Amino acid sequence: MEFRLLPGYTTSESISEHISLRTPLVYTSHSSTKYEINIPVVSAAMQSVSGAKMAIELAKAGGISFLFCSQSIESQTAMMRAVKHHKAGFVTPHTVNKNTSIERLHQLRTEHGFNTFPVVDDEEKFLGIITRNDYDINSHREMSVSDRMIPKQSLVTGTGITNLKSANSLLMESHQSVLPILDSNGKLSSLVFRKDIYDHLDNPAQVVDEKKRLLCGAAINTHDYKERVPALVNEGADILCIDSSDGYSEFQKETIKWITSNFPDTPVVAGNVVTAEGFRFLVENGAAAVKVGMGSGSICITQEQKGTGRGLATAIMKTAQERDKYFAETGKYIPICADGGIGNSKDISVALALGADYIMMGRYFARMEESPTEKIIINDRIMKPYWGEGSNRAREWHENRYSQSKFAEGVEGFVEYAGRLKDSLDVTISKIKSTLSTCGVSDIAQLHANAQLEVVSALSIREGKVHDIFMPDKSSYPDSEGY
Ligand code: IMP
Repeated sequence: MEFRLLPGYTTSESISEHISLRTPLVYTSHSSTKYEINIPVVSAAMQSVSGAKMAIELAKAGGISFLFCSQSIESQTAMMRAVKHHKAGFVTPHTVNKNTSIERLHQLRTEHGFNTFPVVDDEEKFLGIITRNDYDINSHREMSVSDRMIPKQSLVTGTGITNLKSANSLLMESHQSVLPILDSNGKLSSLVFRKDIYDHLDNPAQVVDEKKRLLCGAAINTHDYKERVPALVNEGADILCIDSSDGYSEFQKETIKWITSNFPDTPVVAGNVVTAEGFRFLVENGAAAVKVGMGSGSICITQEQKGTGRGLATAIMKTAQERDKYFAETGKYIPICADGGIGNSKDISVALALGADYIMMGRYFARMEESPTEKIIINDRIMKPYWGEGSNRAREWHENRYSQSKFAEGVEGFVEYAGRLKDSLDVTISKIKSTLSTCGVSDIAQLHANAQLEVVSALSIREGKVHDIFMPDKSSYPDSEGY
């Protein structure tokens, strides 16, 4: 982006360690912190970016993914299930009855992918635990679960425990890998796994829902939403996002209205728009956040093909002004997600300073181990494929958002493999915090209020990069963000 941030007065309050990047995902009328993320980045709803693995790792890091909708309802809901079953502390387990046969238990293991099943009686009272180590399908097929389980008397259990710290101390003493938590009547309320506690301690920024499951978003389209939305919400989707390059449309209005009247507890991010009118149209029709940007994505050829679009910086400024106006009029703060063309920390910081509340990225995340594609070697470099949702490759999926169009609006290519998400993200986040520190602010709201930006000339951009030296070894030149 053609802006640079001017330094502000840095105090001890605005050093990196004190900076919070927590930001609202959507507007909610009740004071729920569930719809806030700890880092201001979300992964794009694209086939080559946001599958279950990405969604799990990003939520653990404090952001959120939007699972792509250019796939069948069944496969998208299966992805949602995988994310929601990933354990983030207390787990609501799938139980089996003591009379269940070992053969059926074995089938359940394959269907659900779980290895540990709590055993209950007909009144749901906890009786024991059975894991994959407790039976051999060939020898014990005919037996029932109660014949092979580890009984309650041989297990350490916790009663009425609600915080992970207490669960942790019991687990550490127990030699067990899992701790059953019971209520005062002996009924099972949840399980806490040892490995999840470690995971939780390693990821203090992770974002979870009210059942302590990782937060996850899902993209939807304006065609099959009446079937797709109920299926996704049923699997636990926390937030929906209408995936479209042009959100200023009657189709979006109808889609939002249907969702807000049928699923009022599930917020909808609508978009994309690039004008103040587009922003106001969506929020007046019930959008809980608005996605901004048209034609700026790294794989996007919309501007070239159709001549429509707007520079992302201008789009953010115009819509952010309208958001603030709307807030002053109604008291409702509708967050803005800047989408397309941002892929490094300096542009994330500038987009936030221009007024965005968080940033959606495709290319940045496509490079990671956790994106759904396979690595390949091209000219001795490790690459991952990356393609637009409007490219011919994605358009093969028949219900794709661009399916009615006779031409592609996106391209297909490769991006350099960047390793594990956590490693890259840690660097990106620390750079953003350092930028806020230099600007003399300690959170995104202060950045919105105080940032001073200046348009830079082409010469200044050149001046701001390494220049006029010969570097035979570029290893001292950090390029963790793939530029
Ligand atoms: P990136 O982060 O610059 O790679 O841009 C990702 C964004 O580009 C997505 O979040 C979408 O808004 C947009 N996008 C995805 N696929 C296409 C396409 O095929 N054509 C145009 N824009 C696209």
